[in-house]
Amino acid sequence: MTETTISLHMIKMEALLPLLCLLVLMYPYPSSSLPMCTSLRAPVIAKEALAFCPYKGRVCCDSTKDSQLQMQFEAMNISLPDCASAVKSILCATCDQFSANLFRVESQIPLLCNSQDSSLSKQSSTSFCTNVWDKCQNISIRNSPFAPSLKGAAGLPNNASSTLTDLWQSQTDFCAAFGDNDDDESTRYCFDGGPVQLNSTPTPLPPEGLCLERLGDKGYINMAAHPDGSDRAFFSDLPGKIWLATIPTHGSGEPLGVDESTPFVDLTDQVKYDTVFGLMGIAFHPNFTENGRFFASFNCDKEKSTTCSGRCGCNSDVGCDPSKIATSGGADHPCQYHNVVAEYTVNGTSSEPPAKATKGKPAEVRRILTIGLPFTNNHGGQILFGPEDGYLYIMLGDGGGKNDPFMLAQNKKSLLGKIMRVDVDTIPKEADDDLNLWGNYSIPPDNPYSEDKELSPEIWALGLRNPWRCTFDSQRPSYFLCTDVGQDHYEEIDVITKGGNYGWSIYEGHLPVQKNISDSNSSDVIFPAMGYNHYDVNKKEGSAAITGGSFYRSTTDPCMYGSYLYADLYATALWAAAETPTNSGNFTSTSIPFGCGRGSPLECNSVPNTNLAALGYIYSFGEDNKKDVYILASTGVYRVVQPSRCNYTCAKEKGTSPVQTPPSSSSSSSSLEFISSLILVLLTGYMLKDSNNKTKDDDALEAGISNLDCGIENKTTEHIVAISPFEYSVIDKAKVFIPYLQWQAHLKHLLPVEIPSGLKLKGKKWTAHFVPTEN
Ligand SMILES: *[C@@H]1O[C@H](CO)[C@@H](O)[C@H](O)[C@H]1NC(C)=O
Ligand SMILES: *[C@@H]1O[C@H](CO)[C@@H](O)[C@H](O)[C@H]1NC(C)=O
Ligand SMILES: *[C@@H]1O[C@H](CO)[C@@H](O)[C@H](O)[C@H]1NC(C)=O
Ligand SMILES: *[C@@H]1O[C@H](CO)[C@@H](O)[C@H](O)[C@H]1NC(C)=O
Ligand SMILES: *[C@@H]1O[C@H](CO)[C@@H](O)[C@H](O)[C@H]1NC(C)=O
Ligand SMILES: *[C@@H]1O[C@H](CO)[C@@H](O)[C@H](O)[C@H]1NC(C)=O
Ligand SMILES: *[C@@H]1O[C@H](CO)[C@@H](O)[C@H](O)[C@H]1NC(C)=O
Ligand SMILES: *[C@@H]1O[C@H](CO)[C@@H](O)[C@H](O)[C@H]1NC(C)=O
Ligand SMILES: *[C@@H]1O[C@H](CO)[C@@H](O)[C@H](O)[C@H]1NC(C)=O
Ligand SMILES: *[C@@H]1O[C@H](CO)[C@@H](O)[C@H](O)[C@H]1NC(C)=O
Ligand SMILES: *[C@@H]1O[C@H](CO)[C@@H](O)[C@H](O)[C@H]1NC(C)=O
Ligand SMILES: *[C@@H]1O[C@H](CO)[C@@H](O)[C@H](O)[C@H]1NC(C)=O
Repeated sequence: MTETTISLHMIKMEALLPLLCLLVLMYPYPSSSLPMCTSLRAPVIAKEALAFCPYKGRVCCDSTKDSQLQMQFEAMNISLPDCASAVKSILCATCDQFSANLFRVESQIPLLCNSQDSSLSKQSSTSFCTNVWDKCQNISIRNSPFAPSLKGAAGLPNNASSTLTDLWQSQTDFCAAFGDNDDDESTRYCFDGGPVQLNSTPTPLPPEGLCLERLGDKGYINMAAHPDGSDRAFFSDLPGKIWLATIPTHGSGEPLGVDESTPFVDLTDQVKYDTVFGLMGIAFHPNFTENGRFFASFNCDKEKSTTCSGRCGCNSDVGCDPSKIATSGGADHPCQYHNVVAEYTVNGTSSEPPAKATKGKPAEVRRILTIGLPFTNNHGGQILFGPEDGYLYIMLGDGGGKNDPFMLAQNKKSLLGKIMRVDVDTIPKEADDDLNLWGNYSIPPDNPYSEDKELSPEIWALGLRNPWRCTFDSQRPSYFLCTDVGQDHYEEIDVITKGGNYGWSIYEGHLPVQKNISDSNSSDVIFPAMGYNHYDVNKKEGSAAITGGSFYRSTTDPCMYGSYLYADLYATALWAAAETPTNSGNFTSTSIPFGCGRGSPLECNSVPNTNLAALGYIYSFGEDNKKDVYILASTGVYRVVQPSRCNYTCAKEKGTSPVQTPPSSSSSSSSLEFISSLILVLLTGYMLKDSNNKTKDDDALEAGISNLDCGIENKTTEHIVAISPFEYSVIDKAKVFIPYLQWQAHLKHLLPVEIPSGLKLKGKKWTAHFVPTEN
């Protein structure tokens, strides 16, 4: 099956050459394929069909635009119905969900199909462009949109009427100007008189399973392929170290080549590492091999570090008063803890270029961003360079609190609950006071604030709760997918587009959260492309947390090719999502088994009595330079291998590569404390407070909690809690609450919630108070 991709480089007309630079500037994605409007935003779902233009469902026009088009059309006063209807269809093409792909910049006319067998106009036997010429050539049109202004001619006088033959010598000239004249039939979107119809693609059979091999036993949370394209990749852990590892070739039986004792860089003394905090993200500059620049995103504690001091995310600009926030999760005051993005450099010398460096310098080169966190949970923190635009994307959670109490994720002035997009290649010398930026970066000129001044200039997309892992499809960079961790019910995957509002905390998935939101506030919400309910993965306790994700583009497992893979933190489920038709944005997820293949370098644990791999907790996904996909789990690093190694049938798999017997290895597991920290991060913020106000019962409870590390036994308590007025957690059926500094004041808000059995809560500092049982 051929993939339909839309490329704007199809515009070959000499007449347009001078415009190409402009084009590149205005379209961040030279080859685009998602449904997208000429504004480069996502189409919206129209509640009802448009009154004038024949479009419904996902459209790029609202009713205002629709009536403008109607007025424009009527003013043309076209006498012949056949011509009128062709011209109307052309005007209305701007409402098509694929309009970004149909139009040239600053042309009112979409690319008219100009070939009898165009991939998208099979139904017509003559080209649409020829049809238009035939029907309209002698018909007078006022303010004709077919004026050759793109050829540099002066505009027509206002209200002049003209026929096509007045404006163009011949049908050939006309179609040379407005037709789609690309030679490559397979990569063309053109307008044929009606809505773009994607070639229907057969729904592929879901892969039988995902076969893995275990390459390492450490629980990393980030992986970044080395920008030099080699077989090396960086891995980082939550406490703050980054390692440079060599990836073994398939079938070698070798584990990941990494020396734990020699990290690439050790940032642990800058990083606040605690139950919910740590080194959250790493990113290497696309030109790292030459400039040696790399970036880390982590948390810091204002009380411990003089460089940990930024504006509070709760501030008067966003209608948030920090003094009204009860301190939470062990903070002495709101914004004691910060999210930081900082720049570092390799320990390079002139004789040793950055590409060869095996060490980074732990000294911060430049602070990119510092923002104080009102609460302790939901702070995201992944960073990623856009593969096409080279800008740095920074994911920030809503900053915590149940239901996002200050609605910061919806607040256009707040950076919390957002995906930001900044330029770290152009660092302003002094702060631009007008823009009121939060750090050392500049703003890409086409960020959405350029059209919506209400938005903070950094913002690319809004309405997220805890965007845990985002990824670009390496084949189609317009596909930027983020998994957004849900609160009580729904885990979601969003296709992130410019200026898109993903709904939190008006909605969690499709479920309304805030009862008192007017329609105007929720009309532009983009709902998840896919996701799952908590009870789908955890019928008993209902807990879940989504971990994204990767578009599988390796040839290792040909049956997986093109699927978007994602999983639940608890590793009870993993999904492969297929998009049908290709480029439609319509994803269908299938839950698939995942096993450990023959010849795994390190032995895997299995779920008892099954062929399924027991991964522990799934923290993240990664990709190497060969596009092989990795799962970063609490039990180690897993690579996707040929399905035959797990006895999964995949007809497309050619031959089976020889696999050596692995060296026998003991599988050590990561420290319990580390595991529990990550879960806490992902569950978005259960903060176990170490208290200095011990009561008589504390020791008993402490014993109880540390006994919980092998699963949940409600042997201890019938009461006790936790956390903050907005976050709560309980262990299994027992009502174990973890103390919150000011619990007395908030006791009424505490709700018993269940943490899945298997959650390990062990920490040397954690103690708890008894709280009188309420009923
Ligand atoms: C529209 O065109 C017709 C001739 O085709 C003309 O009689 C009429 O006055 C025009 N209407 C306007 C509003 O110009
Ligand atoms: C348009 O006008 C030209 C010349 O006046 C004539 O040859 C042609 O047949 C006309 N076409 C139509 C469709 O009326
Ligand atoms: C163009 O014509 C319309 C309708 O005849 C009229 O309302 C409008 O004022 C005219 N505009 C100009 C700029 O002459
Ligand atoms: C979405 O995909 C499913 C499964 O392949 C298919 O049945 C459905 O028709 C598709 N929907 C659209 C709108 O294309
Ligand atoms: C990469 O960095 C080097 C050294 O700073 C610079 O000379 C080169 O122009 C950069 N290349 C790109 C593509 O940015
Ligand atoms: C690089 O690191 C080594 C040891 O790790 C140190 O001796 C050397 O001075 C560093 N080089 C630079 C340029 O900082
Ligand atoms: C910009 O970077 C410098 C050097 O790291 C730092 O001192 C300064 O605080 C940064 N500015 C902001 C707003 O973060
Ligand atoms: C809903 O909001 C409106 C306007 O902010 C307010 O007047 C009304 O009391 C609110 N209703 C509820 C039930 O909170
Ligand atoms: C809701 O919409 C109103 C008016 O458009 C706006 O003033 C208000 O700030 C919005 N509220 C939120 C939470 O976005
Ligand atoms: C695959 O099948 C072979 C032969 O049927 C069997 O020996 C082997 O254990 C199976 N391997 C796995 C990973 O299921
Ligand atoms: C401990 O907490 C109790 C109850 O909140 C309070 O009365 C007492 O003063 C506290 N003791 C210390 C040492 O802070
Ligand atoms: C745990 O609590 C539940 C409900 O309170 C109770 O039915 C069960 O027997 C308890 N289990 C143990 C091991 O105490």
